[in-house]
Amino acid sequence: MSGDNTNTGRRRFLTAATTVVGAVGVGFALVPFVSSMQPSAKARAAGAPVRADISKLMPGQMIRVKWRGKPVWLVKRTDEMLETLTTLVPELRDPDSVEPMQPDYAQNEYRSIRPEILVTVGICTHLGCSPTYRPDVGAADLGADWLGGFFCPCHGSTFDLAGRVYKGVPAPLNLEIPPHRYLSDNELVIGEDGGVA
Ligand code: FES
Repeated sequence: MSGDNTNTGRRRFLTAATTVVGAVGVGFALVPFVSSMQPSAKARAAGAPVRADISKLMPGQMIRVKWRGKPVWLVKRTDEMLETLTTLVPELRDPDSVEPMQPDYAQNEYRSIRPEILVTVGICTHLGCSPTYRPDVGAADLGADWLGGFFCPCHGSTFDLAGRVYKGVPAPLNLEIPPHRYLSDNELVIGEDGGVA
């Protein structure tokens, strides 16, 4: 009897040991696979929303932040700049921003949440160059009727101070407005909007 008990006990021990080894083996096999499915911290950071402090942004100035490897511009428009947005309408390809280049909350005459603050991706919608900020009204190289905006040096596309593309230039679309929302008067986050887009 005691031999049977010993054998039964040994069998149970071996069965349990095999099960544990099997579970550990499966565990080791799974960990690398699961890890390989996770984005790296660097990749997560590259796609993460970014915060922008606009407390020092003066009227007429632009600052840049980087989001998902793209330049995002923040321009504080003056009242005079905002007035140009209505006078330019006949010269623009899509003045009402009908093409979906902005979230719903930025589909208005200013293409922004707060009229004075433009937030736009600084990449030309033609072939992806980065335009330059040209607020200088009547600039010699852009014509006496230039009211300020953005100029792409690659093939000459021009955009107004709401990132709306002019007619007759290579760029087909307005500049993109990224998802964003304000955390306070002086801080906003780019890359997320709480799902209101
Ligand atoms: S890339 Fe801007 S005009 Fe061609």
